[in-house]
Amino acid sequence: MKKKVLLMGASGSGKTSMRSLIFSNNPASLTARLGATIDVEQNHVRFLGDLILNLWDCGGQDAFMDSYLSTQRATIFSHVGVMIYVFDVESRDRAKDLEYYRDCLEALKRFSSEARVFLLVHKMDLVRDRAAELERKRRELVKESTGIGVTVFGTSIYDESLYKAWSRIVHTLIPNAAVLSRHLTTLAEACSATEVILFERTTFLVIATSTAAAPTEAAASDSISSLPPLPSPPKSPPKNARSPTSPSFPEDIHDPEPEAEPDAESDPHQLNPIRYERTSELIKAFKYSCSRFLRQEFHALEMELSEFSAVLDELTKNTYVMIVVHDPTIETAALRLNIRLARRKFE
Ligand code: GTP
Repeated sequence: MKKKVLLMGASGSGKTSMRSLIFSNNPASLTARLGATIDVEQNHVRFLGDLILNLWDCGGQDAFMDSYLSTQRATIFSHVGVMIYVFDVESRDRAKDLEYYRDCLEALKRFSSEARVFLLVHKMDLVRDRAAELERKRRELVKESTGIGVTVFGTSIYDESLYKAWSRIVHTLIPNAAVLSRHLTTLAEACSATEVILFERTTFLVIATSTAAAPTEAAASDSISSLPPLPSPPKSPPKNARSPTSPSFPEDIHDPEPEAEPDAESDPHQLNPIRYERTSELIKAFKYSCSRFLRQEFHALEMELSEFSAVLDELTKNTYVMIVVHDPTIETAALRLNIRLARRKFE
C-alpha cells in the first residue's frame, strides 16, 4: 500500500531540512548546507510491512511552483494521501505564500479531494512568544483554507516539536493503528508495564502506544487477531494499580491543544506529556552518534533509573518497541523475553 505525501511550501521554508532530519537521521546543524531542491525529489520509506510512504519534496522556488500549478498539475496533485504545507514563520512575503497555498489547495481539492492537509508553521525557534504567534497564524491559515479541514502545528528542527507533528501525520496513514494499540496494551499488561510505545525503525516516529482504555466495539470489529496473554515476567507480582496511560493519538485533531499538566490522581507516575516526541528526538541523536563516532548501529537499550526502568528493542523488521516499568521488582531481562515472545504477533 503506497501513500503519497506531498511536502510543499515556499523556497527556504525548511522542507528539505525536516526531511533530512526525520528520514535521513542528519543533525539539525547540517541543514544549513542544503541546497535548494530542484523540481521534485522523491523518497520511498517502508513503514510497517506493506505501508510505503512516497514522499514528494517539491522545491519551492517560484518557477517550480508555477510549473506544479500549470503543466505538472495533474501529476503532482493526483493520488495524494496527505499534503504537508510548510510556512516559514518569519517569511517576508506572506501574501505570496498564501496565494501559492490557496492555489495548491484548489488543485488538491480537484485531483485528490480525500487528501488530508497538515500545515506546519515552521522555524518556531525564531519566535519569542510561541503560543501567541502560533494561535495568530493558525487563525489566519484556517481562514484561508475554506472548505477543507486543516491541522496546524508549530515546528522547529531544533526541538521535539517536529517529531510530534510528523508522528501525528504518519499516524493518520496507518490503517490498523487501533489494532496495534490494543496489542501493545496486551503486551503492557503482560509485563505490568506503565506504558509500551512502538516506533518506526528509520525515523523513530511513534506509530502507536498502549492505552488503558477499553477498545470500542467499532475498533474491536476490525481486529486482525487478538494477542493471547503472554507469560508474565518471572518476578512480576499481580498489579492492581497500573497507571492509565495517555490515549494514543486522536484521529482528528484540528488545533493541537496546549499540553495539559499531568493530573496527579489519574497519572500516579507524572508522565511527561511530551515524552514520546522527546524520546524520538533523543534516540535519533543517539543513533546518529553511534553511527558517526562508533561506526556501529545500536540494536537495543536498557535503562535502570531510580524510579523506573525501560527497555528499547527491535520488535519487527521495521519497528522498535519501548517498555517502561515503574515496578522495581520487574527485571529488564523479563521484559526482553516478553518482547521476543511478542514478535511473532506483530510481524
Ligand atoms: P527549497 O528546496 O528551495 O524549496 O527550500 P526548503 O524549503 O527545502 O528549505 P531548506 O530545508 O533548504 O531550509 C532553508 C534554511 O532554513 C536552511 O538554512 C535551514 O538550516 C533553515 N531551517 C530549516 N528549518 C529550520 C528551523 O526549524 N529553524 C531555523 N531557525 N532554521 C531552519
